[in-house]
Amino acid sequence: MESATIYLPPPDIRWRACSHESTGIWDLLLGRVSNDDTFPAWPLFENRHVIPSYQGSTAIFHMCEHFGLGDSDEVLVPAYNCGSEIDPLIYRGVQTTPYNVGLDTRIDFEDIQRKVTRKTKAIYVTHYFGWPQEIEPLLAFCKQNNILLLEDCALSLFSEYKNRPLGTTGDASIFSIRKYFPIPDGGALMINNSNKATSIELDPPPANVTRKDIRPLIGRSLSRTIAQMGLHGYKQWLKFRIRKPFILPGEEREFPAMPQSKYYDPRKTDWSISRMSLSILRRVDPASVVQTRRTNYQRLEENLDDIQNVTPLYKGLPRDVCPLFFPVIVENRQKWVAALSMYGVGVYPFWGTYHPGIRWKEYPEASYLKDHVMTLPVHQQLTESHMDTIA
Ligand SMILES: Cc1ncc(COP(=O)(O)O)c(C=O)c1O
Repeated sequence: MESATIYLPPPDIRWRACSHESTGIWDLLLGRVSNDDTFPAWPLFENRHVIPSYQGSTAIFHMCEHFGLGDSDEVLVPAYNCGSEIDPLIYRGVQTTPYNVGLDTRIDFEDIQRKVTRKTKAIYVTHYFGWPQEIEPLLAFCKQNNILLLEDCALSLFSEYKNRPLGTTGDASIFSIRKYFPIPDGGALMINNSNKATSIELDPPPANVTRKDIRPLIGRSLSRTIAQMGLHGYKQWLKFRIRKPFILPGEEREFPAMPQSKYYDPRKTDWSISRMSLSILRRVDPASVVQTRRTNYQRLEENLDDIQNVTPLYKGLPRDVCPLFFPVIVENRQKWVAALSMYGVGVYPFWGTYHPGIRWKEYPEASYLKDHVMTLPVHQQLTESHMDTIA
């Protein structure tokens, strides 16, 4: 990869970090001593069959196990994917067949119908960034053909579909709760429709695993404290002075390979969510999380109106969406990410790496999204004034 160096701007006390969520010291201390395994009493999970898991990917593994999906079964999966949701299926020996997803991230129902074969046991649908897919027609199709409908809500906690919590329509759904909160781990499997009792028994991860998992959260908390003291600019300035000049990345390779950390790690299979995560989650009020994320999204949307070369992925914010991020389409994404990160804005080049199990050239829309979507933060620790700073 070629790279170019740019001059480093001087430190500026007005820089405001709008980074990823961080955990308060109080949360970490309470979580450390907690002995309570109670799952948070959120309306989404009330009176439903929910199995808390260590991560979203381990929930996917258990979902396959519950429904007996494995060797030589076929599951249709969306071509626009992270890779870490496909890999547990592949790990179980499932044959994954991608179907098209449009540039608007909508599933292509016709392509799904074309690709179903006699071996198809399930259709896997992802709700991206909090936006529910229109799955009622698909549900009817699945019922008619005796195919399971599996919903991936890893990016869509607390959204709704047809006035019910998202994730309660298909036969089962999975969540990656850790994507919405600053917690060391946390996912869930929800089984909505099954004539079989589950025999899944999971224990919290070992203490040394949780200790390792909270290290990045401690790093983020320190960064946040520095930012709140108005010293973020100085921190960045020092960092690049001492360690390296600020580098703007050059052109990216085509279909860069997914890093090892995104492949399925079977050692995590039997772990549940940690007590540390549960202790933090029990103090969350879902309604206020939804409200804050929506307000932040709308504020950013108003401000982004005037910015050239940055196109929101979605128009408007439907009533039933709890946004995970504010996704935008940009050219030269690595440059945007590098520059915004330097100013303390927690952006991601979303899903910029590729699972080698898919013939990507056959899915130009999905590849386009993987190369061009950048996510801006709207999480519940940010305020409207942060949104103004980002824009
Ligand atoms: C759509 C989707 N599903 C599932 C997962 C797996 O979740 P986790 O990272 O908690 O294992 C991811 C992870 O990025 C994802 O993006």
